[in-house]
Order: sequence, then structure tokens, then C-alpha cells
Amino acid sequence: MLKGRNLIKPNDLTVSEIDEICGLAEQIIVDPNSFSDVCRGKILATLFFEPSTRTRLSFEAAMLHLGGAVEGFSDAANSSTAKGESLSDTIRTVSSYVDVIAMRNPKEGAALVASQYSNCPIINAGDGGHYHPTQTLTDMLTIRALQGGFEGHTIGFCGDLKFGRTVHSLAEAMSRYKNNRYIFISPNELQVPEYVTQELDEAGIEYTTAERLESVIGDLDILYMTRVQKERFFNEQDYIRLKDSYILDNQKMSLARKNMIVLHPLPRVNEIAPEVDNDPRAAYFKQVKYGMYVRMALIAKLVGVL
Ligand code: NCD
Repeated sequence: MLKGRNLIKPNDLTVSEIDEICGLAEQIIVDPNSFSDVCRGKILATLFFEPSTRTRLSFEAAMLHLGGAVEGFSDAANSSTAKGESLSDTIRTVSSYVDVIAMRNPKEGAALVASQYSNCPIINAGDGGHYHPTQTLTDMLTIRALQGGFEGHTIGFCGDLKFGRTVHSLAEAMSRYKNNRYIFISPNELQVPEYVTQELDEAGIEYTTAERLESVIGDLDILYMTRVQKERFFNEQDYIRLKDSYILDNQKMSLARKNMIVLHPLPRVNEIAPEVDNDPRAAYFKQVKYGMYVRMALIAKLVGVL
């Protein structure tokens, strides 16, 4: 039963609940009109204490396509947080107006705290460098559509694996499926944190690390590119030194398999050259579309209308 539940980290959902949400998203893709009224009278609040384009707008578009309404803020400076209000008080207040809240906050653990004070489901739309479970659902729906399922993939995670919450979330979520293997491609300073590798060890996932993308790209079924997370660096010099560590271009793509797909949560900065956009293996703009449909499915389930 998904009605009334929170989604803080990807593994809050069981494997069969992920199937249920992806299955509903696929039904919506086939016949969106028959879902255009299911959330009539329901309200989604989007509380974004950190910048966003896709995540916030896709949540809002998702609710509008379901016939519901949206309210919220996209900048903490426009909310009572600027007057010193605590997160718990903001959540107590907003959750008495609406049916579901999608929240992004720069602090790790903020969504979990919010869920302890909320009268309605909280969806974590990113908590600092921690987790981003709806991006994971987006990634998984894309993988299911383009690579036929969740098992038996060699996945290369490339870029900022230290601060990239989308990486932490997807790595944990895919570790529950059989025969997946990971290659973590990053500069030494941006390696995946220990709390993630610990989970992978517990799940018995095989993973290796690499510093050069060229040396492993030919082994991959899925290449998950990420941006170096400027906003999480303490020191601008370190960011400048590391920001262009990886640039995927047509030359590197020529070393990859014909059926590999390239995913990226976006926004991209320099890490994928625009020339790659025309390669049929570039799936990051399709991924954007899947993100809206999977959020439609998730909202409908948590609100309890489907
Ligand atoms: C990601 C995020 O916010 O973590 N973006 C997104 O939600 N699509 C990735 C990023 O900002 O690099």
C-alpha cells in the first residue's frame, strides 16, 4: 500500500512497489487522457529551498496533468525561512493545507526530519548530497524502457560520485537486482562515499573503480554521467581544478558498445559535448520525459487515488 507513505530514500520502496509505479507510469504514457482527472481536488506543494528546473517543474506538470493543483516556493528567500522559521514549523503549516509535499533542501536528512512533522506524504526531491529518489525512479523507468529491465547491467557512474545524490540513490536502488556490476569512474577526490559502498557490500554488488573513462567505456551497458556539484565544494579552487575531469565526446562514444545508453540527470555543464546529443545512444532528453510520467504515477499512488 503506497497511500500516505513518504519517499525519503529509494529503498523505502520495495522492488515490487517500484514495479507497480513503473507499470502505472507506462500505462499513463500509453493513454495520458484517461488519467487527466484522477487528482481533481488534490493539492501538491513544492517546497524548494535549493535551485531546480526539471525536478520542480516536472512535479508541478505531473500534478497538473493529473487534474490537481499546485502551490509552493522555489526559493527559501521568499518563504518564512528567511524570517527564521524552523523547517518543522513550515512543514506543520504547509501539510495542513495540501495532500502531498515535494521538498528539496540543501541539508542531508532534511526530508526525513520533515516527514516526522508532516500530516501528508513527503517526497524527498533532493536532500543535500544524500538522496534523490524521484530522479532514481526516472532513471529506472528509462532503463526499463530502453534496456529492457533492471538485471544484468554493467553501469558506469562517471563524474562527481562524492556529492552526486543521484548516483548514491541509483547505485543503492539497482543493487537489489541480480547480476548488476558497477564501475565508478571519478577523480580520486570525488569517489563514492563509504556509506554507499557499505550498502553495496551488504547487497553483494560487484564494483570496481577507474580514473579514465576511455579505459572502461567499452564494457558498459549504461553510462551515467554527472556534473561536478559546484555548490557542495568548500573551496572554489578545488572545483575549478576538477570541473572538467570528464568530457564525453564523439571520440569516446566511438569506443562504446552499439547498445550502450548515456543517462544524465541534468543539468549538464561541460561533461557531455553537445555533439553527443545526436547520437542515438544519448538518452538524457528522453529521460526528462520519463521523469514527468513517473512522478505522475508516484503522486497518484501516494495520494491514494489509484
Ligand atoms: C540533479 C540534482 O539536483 O541532484 N538534478 C536533477 O534533479 N535532475 C543533478 C544535478 O544537479 O547535478
